[in-house]
Amino acid sequence: MRSGEFPVNVGNGNEDVVDTDTGRKLPVPALLEDQNPNEGISEFEISVQEGETEFIPGQTTPTLGYNGSYLGPVIKVSRGDEVRMHVRNELSDETSVHWHGLEVEGTADGGPHQVIPEKDIWEPVFSIDQPAATLWFHPHVIGTTAIQVYYGLAGLFIVEDENSKSLNLPDEYGVNDIPLIIQDRSFTEDGSFLYYDNMMDGAYGDYIMVNGAITPYLDVDQLKMRFRIVNGANARNFDLRLSDRSEFQQIASDGGLLESPVVSDSLFITPGERAEIIVDFSDYEEGDVLELISDGELVMTFRVGEEAEDVTEIPEKLAEIERMDPDLVSGFKSIELDGMGHMVTLNGRQFDMDRIDDDVAEGELEIWEISTFRSMMMGSAGHPFHIHGTQFQVLSRNGEEPYQNEKGWKDTIFVQAGETVRILVRFRFKGLFMYHCHILEHEEAGMMGQLEVY
Ligand code: C2O
Ligand code: CU
Ligand code: CU
Repeated sequence: MRSGEFPVNVGNGNEDVVDTDTGRKLPVPALLEDQNPNEGISEFEISVQEGETEFIPGQTTPTLGYNGSYLGPVIKVSRGDEVRMHVRNELSDETSVHWHGLEVEGTADGGPHQVIPEKDIWEPVFSIDQPAATLWFHPHVIGTTAIQVYYGLAGLFIVEDENSKSLNLPDEYGVNDIPLIIQDRSFTEDGSFLYYDNMMDGAYGDYIMVNGAITPYLDVDQLKMRFRIVNGANARNFDLRLSDRSEFQQIASDGGLLESPVVSDSLFITPGERAEIIVDFSDYEEGDVLELISDGELVMTFRVGEEAEDVTEIPEKLAEIERMDPDLVSGFKSIELDGMGHMVTLNGRQFDMDRIDDDVAEGELEIWEISTFRSMMMGSAGHPFHIHGTQFQVLSRNGEEPYQNEKGWKDTIFVQAGETVRILVRFRFKGLFMYHCHILEHEEAGMMGQLEVY
């Protein structure tokens, strides 16, 4: 089946097709095996394939996945590694695999210029040279990005470094270090996905899913757990809280560990963004049930189990972040995000594959000012703005200090209606890179530009 042929239903989602009381156990994606025995070289095989997934008991949903039927395995690498990818496209349609957040040359980025034809193979080679972080990967072909992601193409890409390994953070994958890929989906009566683009702010779903399960549960012991959260939704923002309003610590943003943990009782996370949080379950008792909620809706449930010994530690100082110096800036770019639904524009125009919108020299430091228009009528609530091939720093939000949890490395930044955010941007690799709104329906509608790093 071509992804273009997947049913794109237009109509209102039917919220009664799924019984959400029968939450499943949280699936934890497998770690992808490194095929290369040499230290310092990692080699991974990824197959992009069609499949069927049972989200609703007794019903099968046609889906897409990496090395499986829905979502993908977790790729884990270390700073300094040379990575050799072997991506086989088993679909009967084009795809690409974009490493969101990875700082690599344009030819390895996996954006719309690295299309993998059907039944073809793509084999980029790149080196990892950035701090420990939770990144992710997903398709990026013009016209099919949104639908291919919706049908299941997304996976996690974890980078470790000397610093992250030396800290005593929870880092036992699948045990006290768990990814949470949060998405929303709608279904038709027969169990197929219902992709409903609401023509305003993109495709929303009626059900929240984590790692491909509708409002699942996770059994946890009475200790600190690290969750690597990815907002993998096409369009929806999540405002995550624990049902008892207790606080947790955010230790990382998109591009790596924060300087020190940020304590909060909520986490606002927009499409494309990542956050790592530590939830301490040691104050709970066996049998306690805690919910993770977003705007009053259930995301998932934690069921607290036994007491356990916890040898992990969250230090006051997590990482050294070299501050980019605004005095060294030699360029300025202004990005205006406007409109809503399919009428969105970036700097007054829509994406054109044959037009390079901007350029910058490798290593040059610039300020980018991203602003969104506040409409008198109905308008977009805001846009998560993302840049490929770089990690940037937030200089200011509406002329004020950025939020505490956006003072680390970022590659995606939410700009609410009427806001102006200034960021410090530097590209360390040459090539052609996209920048765009990460509401995938906005991106598809042309809220994207491309820049050449020379
Ligand atoms: Cu997450 Cu242009 O992508
Ligand atoms: Cu990206
Ligand atoms: Cu947008």
